[in-house]
Amino acid sequence: MTERLDIRSPEDVVRVRQRVRALAVESGLGLVDQTKVVTAASELARNAIDYAGGGVVDLEVINGTRRGVRLVFEDQGPGIPDVELALRDGFTTGNGLGLGLGGAKRLSSEFSIESVPGQGTRVSITRWK
Ligand SMILES: Nc1ncnc2c1ncn2[C@@H]1O[C@H](COP(=O)(O)OP(=O)(O)OP(=O)(O)O)[C@@H](O)[C@H]1O
Ligand SMILES: [Mg+2]
Repeated sequence: MTERLDIRSPEDVVRVRQRVRALAVESGLGLVDQTKVVTAASELARNAIDYAGGGVVDLEVINGTRRGVRLVFEDQGPGIPDVELALRDGFTTGNGLGLGLGGAKRLSSEFSIESVPGQGTRVSITRWK
């Protein structure tokens, strides 16, 4: 079962963090892995606000042969012209450190990103137990 949360304000980022933590606990992740996925979620939610004027995230606990949490962030912002460049540490078009996207990838077991300039960005991450 998936649940969708809006990401429009800093309070929404707090809510996303709380729900991701709860679902990570539910899926049996240890404390370190919980924190990894919460941190990754936080970075992706913040990017949606900072660069796309907000978005949504679909949260899902996976309870199959493997257990884990899957998060899909979607926005209808300007998109990312060069995803490979955006993933590089230190690359930013804003005021950040340029570490969020690459960090989120490193903190995840699986990471995929699709972005279409003029349409938006979709980032999917999974953290397996
Ligand atoms: N959802 C998005 N829509 C449009 N552009 C994005 C989105 N997410 C990231 N980007 C682009 O990718 C760049 C790199 O993102 P990243 O999160 O790594 O760094 P940052 O947000 O600039 O800084 P930090 O996350 O370290 O505070 C951003 O500066 C922005 O240009
Ligand atoms: Mg960022």
